Amino acid sequence: MKITLTAVRVDLGAVGGHLQPSEKIVSAVRDTIKEKTDDLLIDSWIDFTGDDITILCTHEAGKENPEIRKHLWNGFEEGAAAAEEQGLYGVGQDIRDAGVTGAVKGLGPAMAEMEFEERPNETFLVFAVDKAVPGAFNLPFYLAFTDPMHCPGLMLSPRMRKGFRLTVMDVLYKEYDREIVLDAPEDLYNLAALLREQNRYAIRRIESRGTDEQALAASTIRMSNIAGKIMGKDDPVAIARVQDPFPSSGEVVAPFSIGPFVGGFMRGCHNGPLMPVPLSTKVSYFDGPPVVSCAAFGLRNGRLTPPIDVFDHPLWDHVRSRLAAKTLEIRRQGFFGNAMQPFETIHYGGLVNILRDLDERFEIMRPPRD
Ligand code: F6R
Ligand code: MG
Repeated sequence: MKITLTAVRVDLGAVGGHLQPSEKIVSAVRDTIKEKTDDLLIDSWIDFTGDDITILCTHEAGKENPEIRKHLWNGFEEGAAAAEEQGLYGVGQDIRDAGVTGAVKGLGPAMAEMEFEERPNETFLVFAVDKAVPGAFNLPFYLAFTDPMHCPGLMLSPRMRKGFRLTVMDVLYKEYDREIVLDAPEDLYNLAALLREQNRYAIRRIESRGTDEQALAASTIRMSNIAGKIMGKDDPVAIARVQDPFPSSGEVVAPFSIGPFVGGFMRGCHNGPLMPVPLSTKVSYFDGPPVVSCAAFGLRNGRLTPPIDVFDHPLWDHVRSRLAAKTLEIRRQGFFGNAMQPFETIHYGGLVNILRDLDERFEIMRPPRD
């Protein structure tokens, strides 16, 4: 049976600025999406991580289906209406000013979709990030799908021996979507050269080179910086199918224990470690730190099992303590150096204005001073 998984992250407004959507918003979205169960949709699941709502739908309508998008959009509208009623901050943040109704891709909400022949024991993970750029997934997914230090399946499973094919998008390329396909292991160094640059390059898709099946889809979209305002969506979502011929659940989640520094913390202008958290976790300290949740699902004929909350485990409590310390440590240096994003990716016109004004006050010293 060919099933499509559609996963979306959308910010429709939040309590406390950018901390957490209200119960009312989440219920409004959930109720609207559920209305089409057994009709357009087979199943759905709605949750939140930080200030974005995560929607997962299963259906047989294929990718980029206009009816699915319209239905999602109705859900967003209902959620935004609930936020408006409560006077919340950032009402309809990802859907207002987004242009044509229903134009989900490339504007506000982030979307990851995958269509595949359901395996008899299909199982997959949904990762949801808040306060981070799409490239925040680069390091953990690179390690999970290409590095035997983190993914022993690359040595142990004959179906994984050929490695994986990664599609990487240049999210800052102007006007067009531009992507490159690189094969692991041959292209490992090339992949590292691109993926180190999280603000510019982001993993969009991974396929098995053994079976040609798609393993992973991430909501990677082009960002543009127009007059100091970034258009496009941070706070990505990704779907990863797991177990043979793909890495196991544990192999995919283990590299998240690193908690790499990612861009997108506080006003989208700072860097902080990506902390793995349980489902339905808000953000708090300095509107963060950047967080990632992981829900594991089973699937039969498009019907979902209730999710397993993967990062809700004592091992991850230890990781969180370590990453809390890492967060506090980098925050000690405030605006300085690597604590903040480079000038080119700063969201705010304010900084652009300051530097423009100051530029006029610089004097060229002739003859040069000693
Ligand atoms: C992401 C997030 C931030 C805000 C950004 C803009 O989850 O909350 O990236 O979108 O800080 O915030 P305002 O509009 O309040 O300046
Ligand atoms: Mg957010």
